[in-house]
Amino acid sequence: MSLDLTGRRAVVTGASRGIGRAIALAYAREGADVAVLARNAELLSEVAVEMEALGGRAVVVTADVLDTDATRSAVSAAVDALGGLDILVNNAGGNSFSSPVSHMRMSGWEKTMRLNLDSIVHITQECLPALGEGGGAIINVSSVAGLRGAPTMAHYGAAKAALLSFTQSLALETAWMGIRVNALVPGWIDTDLTDFLRSSDEAERGTLARVPMQRWGRAEEIAEPAVFLASDASSFMTGQALIIDGGLSVMP
Ligand SMILES: NC(=O)c1ccc[n+]([C@@H]2O[C@H](COP(=O)([O-])OP(=O)(O)OC[C@H]3O[C@@H](n4cnc5c(N)ncnc54)[C@H](OP(=O)(O)O)[C@@H]3O)[C@@H](O)[C@H]2O)c1
Repeated sequence: MSLDLTGRRAVVTGASRGIGRAIALAYAREGADVAVLARNAELLSEVAVEMEALGGRAVVVTADVLDTDATRSAVSAAVDALGGLDILVNNAGGNSFSSPVSHMRMSGWEKTMRLNLDSIVHITQECLPALGEGGGAIINVSSVAGLRGAPTMAHYGAAKAALLSFTQSLALETAWMGIRVNALVPGWIDTDLTDFLRSSDEAERGTLARVPMQRWGRAEEIAEPAVFLASDASSFMTGQALIIDGGLSVMP
């Protein structure tokens, strides 16, 4: 199986921490040149140092993905610095609140959609011309929250479900260009995003009770499948969702 990414050029969004950071490091380990994008320049620089220690070339670009002008400039600078683009990982995202729909403010719904869906559509549009030159891979990071009902997180679940539909439509539109589009669907992963679920034993027990493997996933356990989806090992795979959740989604 060829997981080698030597000579491939990648943009990874949300690469300052968590899953995106792990993906950037895994790509560097496989020989890719990687542009890391997020808001926190200091953390991105630390990731870049780690990537370079692994032998990879790192480009740091900062932007808030909610700011379309800043994102456009950052993506354009990244593609220029890399000299082209072969892989786009749309990972930046998250959820900052829980609320039943009855009490949810529409501003919260809209911000969640802009972060987890609109920004990805925009970044993808910015990257497609460069990807179209030689084909490539787009990987969208969805969530198990988008596979079924997500009570008190309807906003986040709906955005991640829409991202899966977007993945399929884009795969159909770009297959002829040699671009493959797939999604990663993580379950509960130990990152800053899920810190609040480790704030008490009760919250943690309640979360892990639904996970057949009875533990948190590690960011590296999402990064390895991200290498697979970017590499020739998945060369006949497009429009698919790869679920990595310790068995959570098949629980009755
Ligand atoms: N952890 C889980 O259990 C889990 C499960 C399913 C899906 N996911 C998904 O996996 C992805 C990564 O999550 P994670 O767990 O690694 O979260 P995390 O540790 O909170 O990291 C989020 C990353 O996204 C960046 N980011 C957030 N908002 C941004 C913005 N407005 N502009 C630019 N960058 C932004 C952050 O960087 P800055 O703060 O530096 O901007 C950070 O690098 C997300 O799409 C999340 O929805 C996570």
